[in-house]
Amino acid sequence: MNFSNILIKWYLQNKRDLPWRKTANPYHIWLSEIMLQQTRVAQGTPYFFAFTEEFPTVFDLANASEEQVLKLWQGLGYYSRARNLHKTAQHVANDLNGVFPSNYAALLKLKGVGEYTAAAIASFSYNEAVPVVDGNVFRVLSRYFDIESDISLPATKKEFTELAYELMPKDNPAIFNQAIMEFGALQCVPKSPDCSICVFNDSCLALQKKKVSVLPVKSKKLKVTNRFFNYLILEDVLGNTLIQKRTAKGIWHNLYEFPLFETTEIVDFDIVSQAVKNDVFPSYTILGIEECNETTVVHKLSHQHLHIQFWKVKIAEKIENGLNSSQLKTFPFPVVIYNFIEKQEINC
Ligand code: ADE
Repeated sequence: MNFSNILIKWYLQNKRDLPWRKTANPYHIWLSEIMLQQTRVAQGTPYFFAFTEEFPTVFDLANASEEQVLKLWQGLGYYSRARNLHKTAQHVANDLNGVFPSNYAALLKLKGVGEYTAAAIASFSYNEAVPVVDGNVFRVLSRYFDIESDISLPATKKEFTELAYELMPKDNPAIFNQAIMEFGALQCVPKSPDCSICVFNDSCLALQKKKVSVLPVKSKKLKVTNRFFNYLILEDVLGNTLIQKRTAKGIWHNLYEFPLFETTEIVDFDIVSQAVKNDVFPSYTILGIEECNETTVVHKLSHQHLHIQFWKVKIAEKIENGLNSSQLKTFPFPVVIYNFIEKQEINC
């Protein structure tokens, strides 16, 4: 048997029962593939159910407010995906009569849809013979064929796309694409795969050459920046607080947060206290400041590590348009802030 036949046979015996595999509806496939970018199946699946229940059609998603979409997306991360999802739903609903483009090239033009997602939708919904190439595919093919090309280079993407296309049975591209991703996710895993039970253990070149742990080759290491956030949780005489929308470009765009005092390192009470009184809230009468968390919370994003301290700031005035805790929870927050809000009622 050749590579594809063995792979597909393995898939049919080992595949997980996942909701987006039971449909060819491009709206559902698109939703699932956007959600699964940089996200594990176990984390993404509840969101898929929530979105398809809340927004059964692309029109329902288009008609929602961005805030509703971000709220339902809360906790899934990479929030630009949610904002693009919403814009694309509006484009499909309003400009394309609710009908998704029906081929790879046209799908690629949608906001937030790159080569991988366009190939997934085109193959799963329309059976177009276009291979998906994601991290799983790089790993499986680089190991099986012992390919040392650097996967951070665009030329390597082309090389793997061409190879995957050659291998793909043109009469059933969908099953090949699902199978190779599933094989990468379950069997040919990044660290310490169990090659003793692998269906390819008599033909995998990396296994023969003891190169499983060094393939695929990736040169570019992510540069991570450290940032230091001090969130100021105002509390007025009514117990209400204040939040703001992050409108600047960058992380958490259009999500909400408490007033922020960003510093270049972890700071102590004196620094925060000075800044609060003189710079951040000079017009309020500060009754007391207290650090809420004993240790700094470290929240890791792909390119940034956020070191977060929360400070309760009690004031003598009444905040205009202040929010109580149940009103607060209806806004979309980065999950690290939402978790704080949930816990804060007990702790701070
Ligand atoms: N990751 C990305 N797309 C996927 C899919 N269709 N099934 C399982 N995992 C995935």
